Parts: sequence; structure tokens; C-alpha cells
Amino acid sequence: MSQLKVLLLIVLLVALVAAAGAAIFLGVKQPNMRPAPELRVELTAENVERGRYLAQNVSDCLGCHSDHHADRFGFPVKPGTEGAGGYVFSKGEGVPGRVAAQNITPDKGTGIGDWSDGEIVRAIREGVRRDGSPLFPMMPYPDYHSMSDDDVKAIVAYLRTLPARQNKAPLRELDFPVNVLVKFMPKPVDGVIPSPPAADPVARGRYLATIAGCRNCHTPRDGKGRPLMDQAFSGGWEMVGPWGRVVTANITPHASTFVGQRSREQFIARFKAYAGFTADSAPPAQPGMNTVMPWLAFAGMTDEDLGAIYDYLRTLPAVDKRIVTFPDAAPASK
Ligand code: HEC
Ligand code: HEC
Repeated sequence: MSQLKVLLLIVLLVALVAAAGAAIFLGVKQPNMRPAPELRVELTAENVERGRYLAQNVSDCLGCHSDHHADRFGFPVKPGTEGAGGYVFSKGEGVPGRVAAQNITPDKGTGIGDWSDGEIVRAIREGVRRDGSPLFPMMPYPDYHSMSDDDVKAIVAYLRTLPARQNKAPLRELDFPVNVLVKFMPKPVDGVIPSPPAADPVARGRYLATIAGCRNCHTPRDGKGRPLMDQAFSGGWEMVGPWGRVVTANITPHASTFVGQRSREQFIARFKAYAGFTADSAPPAQPGMNTVMPWLAFAGMTDEDLGAIYDYLRTLPAVDKRIVTFPDAAPASK
């Protein structure tokens, strides 16, 4: 064998060993996680009510973890399916594969009835299932990572009061390499997370805009579904699903946007306009004009919380970007 061939053989062997090593490492790699915290959630009326508010009107847990009326405006939750899971996200929502919202009712076989309080708290904020496997961030745990200890416990208290519904949600199928990369996404919470000070509306608004998903949905993605954080809140994420096609709006305070043009009172009123809408009373959506913006859920937010979100949005850098939010609407209604 010539020296060159020997050299090539060695290079090949080294490459093979490295590849095998990497494959084994990635195969057995555990997500960055800690044991579920030891804690007990108090089922006081106050906790349950705070949790109901957060789960229904702020973080919109039920918006994803339930079935919907796809033809009614605002994609309302179908009564009787709250928390039972089953909604499947796929390519249209930017998922490389398929991932279903799981059953988060207290059903013991198909829901989270067997999970400890600490295991549920860890899943919500840290993205790890009971068995230690990583959740795909279509479950917005990166946003919930900063949720305060009091708020996340209140949500668990509320989930415990949901009627148990037996429903086995489909399991996840992710394409390579995301099925491997998902292991790198969970992140443990470190220390105590206090709620933001009530006296500081901007801090409160920043907190709410995170745990209510405003930043997540209103930040554009690159071709691989990764958020472009330097354009945060400037909109442009196109979402396709049973509701049709819709593009998230620019909610930075630029002179061309709703947030840039309207007062605090007008902002609050725009959300409150949907307060009378329920799954049964929401009108049918006009063709090309249905939306996943959780208008119906957010209509139940307090004026104080909506006002704080407005105050925070007004502090953001104004981004000059015009967006057609309903590209398939009839020309007259655009
Ligand atoms: C944008 C949609 C969305 C929202 C909003 C959302 N979830 Fe999820 N959730 C999911 C999806 C999808 C999964 C499954 C992820 C996977 O399989 O990797 C999930 C998984 C979970 C799990 C793990 C259940 C299991 O059996 O694996 C829990 C617990 C959970 N969510 C609770 C919540 C709570 C509480 C909230 C509100 C604070 C919430 N979710 C908001 C989409 C969502
Ligand atoms: C699940 C994704 C999603 C979440 C979460 C979300 N939005 Fe939206 N939002 C949209 C989409 C899509 C549109 C465009 C269609 C429409 O107007 O309904 C929109 C439109 C808007 C508009 C109208 C802007 C205009 O120019 O007419 C405002 C204001 C707004 N969102 C604010 C917010 C705030 C504040 C939050 C958090 C409390 C939030 N959004 C959370 C998806 C989302």
C-alpha cells in the first residue's frame, strides 16, 4: 500500500469512529434537566381562579390543548373538549414533522392525572415530560420559562379542577435532524422567579407579552422555523391551517401600525370588542379572514393587564414593515 493510501485509510477510520461516537452521544444524550421540584400546589379558590385566568385568557393553554370550531371567527375552543388535546401542528405552522397538543386534563390514563405537581410545573417552564423526554417547543415552554412561581402553581391548581377527559392524543413524529436537536432545547429553571412588580406597568407588560405568546407569534421566522429575534414583534410569520392563511401583524409602535397609531384606551377597546364572543356566538369567519390571534381569549384579560402590554409595546424600537395579515381576503375587506 502506498503512503497516500495508508493515510487515506487512517483519515477514513478516524472519521468513522468520530461519526459513530457522535451518533452514540446524540442517541443517549439526555436533555439539560433537573429532577422535578418537590412542591405542593394549594387548591385554594384564589389559586384556582388565578390559574383559570392565566390558562384561559393570558397564556391560552386551552387554545392549543382543545378542539376548535375552525369555521367560526377566532378559531374558538369547542365546549366539552377543554384540555383534552389532539390538535396536530405540522408544516403549515412551521413544524418539521407533526406534533400534537397533549391531553392535560386529570385523566389518569391519557392525561396528566398521574403526574406530580412538580412534574407539571417542570413540563410547563422547562420543557421536560414526566419520563424525562424533551418537549418540542411548539409547546411554548421557552416563553413560560420566565413564568413566576406563583403563576405556574396557580395554573397547575386550575388544571387539577378540569373535568378528566379520556382522549389519547397522537404521538409526535419529527424529521431528522430536529428529532435529535430537540434534546438541546429544554432548560432548567434556576432559583426563585417572583412575579413582576405591580407598580411597574412596563415590566409587567414585558412579562405578559412573553407568557401570553405576543412576542412568539409576532416575531418572524427564518426558513428553518427559527425566530429572528432582531425583528421581534415586527410580525411576518405566515401560519397555514384549518383557519386558512394568516400572517402575524407588526405590533411595534411604528407610525404605520395599529400600536403606533392608537391610544392605550383604543388598544384595550380593540380586545374588549370580542368580549361577548363565545364558541357558540362567534360569527362564521369571512372567507380568507379567520385568524389564530387569540382575540376571544384575550378579550377576558383585565384592562390593567392589556394596558400594561400596550405600555411595554410602546417602548419597543419601531420597525418599518408593512404586512398584509389576510392575504387571501376579498380585495374590498383587506
Ligand atoms: C401553541 C400551542 C400550545 C400552547 C399555547 C400550550 N401548549 Fe402545552 N403543549 C403543546 C404541544 C404541541 C405539546 C406536545 C409537545 C410534544 O409532544 O413535544 C404540549 C405539551 C404539554 C404538556 C406535556 C404533556 C404530555 O403528556 O407530554 C403539558 C403539561 C402542557 N403542554 C401544558 C400546557 C400549559 C399548562 C399551557 C399554558 C400555560 C400550555 N401547555 C400551552 C402546545 C401548546
Ligand atoms: C397564536 C399566535 C398569536 C398570538 C399568541 C398573538 N397574536 Fe396578535 N395576531 C396574530 C395574527 C395571525 C394576527 C393578524 C390577524 C388578525 O388581525 O387577527 C394578529 C394581529 C394582532 C393585532 C392587530 C394588529 C393590526 O395591525 O391590526 C394586534 C394589536 C395584536 N395581534 C396584538 C397581540 C398581543 C398584544 C398579543 C399578546 C397578548 C398577541 N397579539 C398574541 C397572531 C397572534
